[in-house]
Amino acid sequence: MLREKALRSRQRELLETLPDHVLVIAAGQARLKNITSSTYPFRASSTFLYFFGKLPPGSVGVFAGGESHLFIEEVGPDDVVWHGPRPSFEEYKALACVDHVKRKSELISFLGKFEPKQILALPTLDPVANAELRLILDRTAKRDGPDSTLLDVIVKMRLIQDEYTLTEIRSACTVTSTAFERGIRSVKPGVEENVIRAEMEYSARAAGFDLAFSPIVTVHGEVLHQLHSNNTARAGDILLVDFGAESNEGYASDVSRSWPVNGQFSPQQQEIYELVLHAQKTALLLAKPGIEFRELHQVVCETFCQGLVDLKVLTGDPHELARRGVHALFFPHGLGHLLGLDVHDMEDFGDAAGYAEGRARSEEFGLSFLRLDRPLVPGMVVTIEPGMYFIPALLQDSKRTKKFEDCLNLEKLKHFSDVRGIRIEDTILITEDGNENLTTSIPKEQAELASLINA
Ligand code: GLY
Ligand code: MN
Repeated sequence: MLREKALRSRQRELLETLPDHVLVIAAGQARLKNITSSTYPFRASSTFLYFFGKLPPGSVGVFAGGESHLFIEEVGPDDVVWHGPRPSFEEYKALACVDHVKRKSELISFLGKFEPKQILALPTLDPVANAELRLILDRTAKRDGPDSTLLDVIVKMRLIQDEYTLTEIRSACTVTSTAFERGIRSVKPGVEENVIRAEMEYSARAAGFDLAFSPIVTVHGEVLHQLHSNNTARAGDILLVDFGAESNEGYASDVSRSWPVNGQFSPQQQEIYELVLHAQKTALLLAKPGIEFRELHQVVCETFCQGLVDLKVLTGDPHELARRGVHALFFPHGLGHLLGLDVHDMEDFGDAAGYAEGRARSEEFGLSFLRLDRPLVPGMVVTIEPGMYFIPALLQDSKRTKKFEDCLNLEKLKHFSDVRGIRIEDTILITEDGNENLTTSIPKEQAELASLINA
């Protein structure tokens, strides 16, 4: 009921916002893994999912003349043998909550009834679907140019999550929470990262959920997106896990936790862990409508500088150190990102969603990875994910460290070599007067983590 209400209301809003245009939104095609009958699991483009839900590869949605139309790709008579019976057009109509369902072979003649300049289309990440769109439209759909009118409307709609999206994201967060509990319990010295990863994936998949992105399960947290999990976790290591289930209808969740493999941080690991946790809690306290996300990022950078001054890694005024960007040696990424159907929601639109109109990414190292630069608004879902990393490629690069030789104690740094990388991330909903942490049930206090690890 909630799903149908949401799809109908989204379709209606788009139709009413751009009543004089014909709007084309393609699901995309399944990508081939190797042979033509072996594809990667199909996931439609997120904007298609947003308006029509899950439908077969090749589907195209069109808004025209105040009505919604779904074009479904025909399949051969043998398809039923290999893939089973398909829903009827009437059933598709109900599933997608549209006014009409037609054969895909009718799409070109349908669009031919309109002036070409009336037609706006959204490019997808799928090159095959884009090539197909090019044939259908006789031009290339682009993020800029006339199609940006459509993109801007969609960004505005998808930035603020409706009740249905929140229900889906909450269900993904619940499954992610259970997966973390299983992951944390399965860690002990001698266990392979792959096994922990499999335990967590099992937890999500057994619940019928997919994954929102390739999980990061690593004792080398200093590699920010380490996708290989083939190390053995040993006593003294910190395991960093960045994991998120995806709901049945394609909505994401995203959480990171870092915990000691043997349940006990070394004193220096503990100091850095507490600093990251303190920075994260500070940002969570401040995240509310009206505040600029960039300001939250800045507060975290200053908190890190203060912490590193206290630990005698840095000397100087934390505010000035952050202004000079020294924290980026330890915290090179942004504080977080939008989340919705995508884990980094709408990043396929470049910075059109992440950055408010008229703003552009900084070229400064660190800030250049800030994915979100907007004031927070009720209904936005974002992540808060500070991390501190001891990345040899940065800290041993004299070209980078030279300009901080007056304030950076390289000798003292060696003391923290067993920390590698720590990230703590939650998915939060911005509410009318603050935020709701949707992943608060996943432990991050040291004592809570220790009791689960040793259970
Ligand atoms: N979960 C991975 C990321 O946020 O980049
Ligand atoms: Mn994230």
